[in-house]
Amino acid sequence: MPLLAIETTCDETAAAVIDRSRRVLSSVVASQDELHARWRGVVPELASRAHVERIVPVIDEALARSGVARESLEAVAVAVRPGLVGSLLVGLSAAKGIAAVLGCPLVGYDHIAAHLYACRLAHGERMTYPCVGLVASGGHTSLFHLRSPLELERLGGTIDDAAGEAFDKAAALLGLAYPGGPSMERAAARGNPAAHRFPRPLATDRERMDVSFSGLKTALRYRVRPPGAPDDTPLPTGQALADLAASFQLAVVETILAKVDLALAKTKCRVLAVGGGVTANTALREALERLGKKRRVDVLIPPRELCTDNAAMGGIAWERLERGEDDGLELDVRPGTDRSAARGR
Ligand code: KG4
Ligand code: ZN
Repeated sequence: MPLLAIETTCDETAAAVIDRSRRVLSSVVASQDELHARWRGVVPELASRAHVERIVPVIDEALARSGVARESLEAVAVAVRPGLVGSLLVGLSAAKGIAAVLGCPLVGYDHIAAHLYACRLAHGERMTYPCVGLVASGGHTSLFHLRSPLELERLGGTIDDAAGEAFDKAAALLGLAYPGGPSMERAAARGNPAAHRFPRPLATDRERMDVSFSGLKTALRYRVRPPGAPDDTPLPTGQALADLAASFQLAVVETILAKVDLALAKTKCRVLAVGGGVTANTALREALERLGKKRRVDVLIPPRELCTDNAAMGGIAWERLERGEDDGLELDVRPGTDRSAARGR
């Protein structure tokens, strides 16, 4: 019998039904992008209120599309960390309600570990351990050494902004629509990535597996409006805009790539698993594939809809259920941070 997974860590309300063989029977994602667009970022209060409105219809839709009756669910899984506390609590409450009514196990899972588990869903047995994991999303940019789906050792990651956050802020500086990642990718498609040489902090450091994006963002800001230029300096358009977007995107990609390369060299792993919204970016996907060929490493990249936030990756809960684990109704959220998160569980 399948499990129902619920995901409300940030601004996507999502539910999915996944069977024991890790087949995704349905996956429904209600995005809140239109709600946060005018603020150019996620407003936590708006996010939790929207989750309250959407969670029941999203769960109903996931069950309907899967053809699985509620009573036939074996367990309920819910992302309990990391994330926005108000958002997490909505998903947890819904999950507890259903588990209590059905009298079935309730299992919490880590959103970051789940992003990497999307590779297991998409690529099946190719996902072997130990492997290196890269999570690049709006809230996180981290490299891990995975001993199993639930055992993640953090090797390094961002010391300031996450990669997705950098894209979102860059898009705002350039007057492009939220969410910034896809807007930047579209603008970059017509641009010359060599037009501007943006900084790649820490990229040449072959010891640390950390990255930094805040200086890159500042560099872009000064290209758009040099220090001392008037406030009403017009935003770049046309080719100038495209060149800035393409050069910025290349700097993000090369910064990430340098550290993935280092992690592969240090761990000697033969498999690289990636996940998170930024890994939907074509330039990054192609660069990772090229790196894999060069290093003879099997690069596992989920399809785009499994890179951005979704509940199908909650299939990771099977790994705990198969060990007989059940958190029960005592389960609580752990909003946490990039560093404390992703111990798998
Ligand atoms: O994983 P995700 O959906 O949510 C978090 O857990 O944060 O990631 C969202 C982030 C946003 O910052 C968004 O701008 C970025 O992923 N993103 C992209 C692309 N699609 C989404 N960044 C670059 N290129 C894309 N195509
Ligand atoms: Zn995410």
